[in-house]
Amino acid sequence: MKVYKKFVYELPNEDFEKLLYEKNLSLEVISRDQGKVRFAVYQEPLEGLDPVETYEVKSKNSVFLPKKVGSFLIVPSWLKPLILHPGSAFGTGYHPSTQVSLLLLERFLKKGYRVLDVGCGSGILSIAAGKLGASEILGIDIDRVSVKEAKKNARLNGLKISFRVAEPKDIKDQFHLVIANLEFSIFEKVLKDILPLSLRILILAGLYGKDEAKRIISMVEGFKPVKVKSLKGWYGVAFLKKG
Ligand SMILES: C[S@@+](CC[C@H](N)C(=O)[O-])C[C@H]1O[C@@H](n2cnc3c(N)ncnc32)[C@H](O)[C@@H]1O
Repeated sequence: MKVYKKFVYELPNEDFEKLLYEKNLSLEVISRDQGKVRFAVYQEPLEGLDPVETYEVKSKNSVFLPKKVGSFLIVPSWLKPLILHPGSAFGTGYHPSTQVSLLLLERFLKKGYRVLDVGCGSGILSIAAGKLGASEILGIDIDRVSVKEAKKNARLNGLKISFRVAEPKDIKDQFHLVIANLEFSIFEKVLKDILPLSLRILILAGLYGKDEAKRIISMVEGFKPVKVKSLKGWYGVAFLKKG
């Protein structure tokens, strides 16, 4: 174990963006709340700014954050970079419902799983599934442009993933894990077609507020909820097939 100094700062959004723009910093964003960003740097404090907290952290890995140098991005080997072309499809990774989905995928996807991504958008969740070791991945979306962009993004990440224009009712196969980051009103229409597609794990996200999460739990038959995760009011629920 190595010991590192961690310096925590808090700045209004605008000052934080200015700092990012002016200095080429490697930093960790801890939270963004009420117009303020809380972030940390390691080892050396920032010049001209007082930290709100300073403490020591123990880490097996050296504290080595991604760093941009010119057009290069240097990423430590234990992180999983997701490369995305900024197109018009939903799924840049900035939306909390995508982040909830990524965290639940990371927790429940086992190597070798066959995965279905319903409403793939940019393909971000399918690509994450590929990075986590899924053996076969199918991403579907009703939007042609999203499917085209998802294919491009999979290529950018060196992954072989199938994407096609389809709705859950068109899929005849079954998968170890099915993930769907949609909307409550869409689940009301397509949940009955999604349920039979999962053999083991089902992750439903894109639910806004506790009430939508509770309602979806009451609508899912044949699975038990095993994890509820939320970020900024957006909920995702992971279910395990019964029996
Ligand atoms: C909230 S976005 C999620 C994108 C990406 N998976 C993510 O997590 O960031 C929802 C996507 O579902 C697609 N969609 C909506 N209704 C659908 C349906 N019935 N079947 C398949 N895809 C659908 C939309 O076109 C959109 O791309």
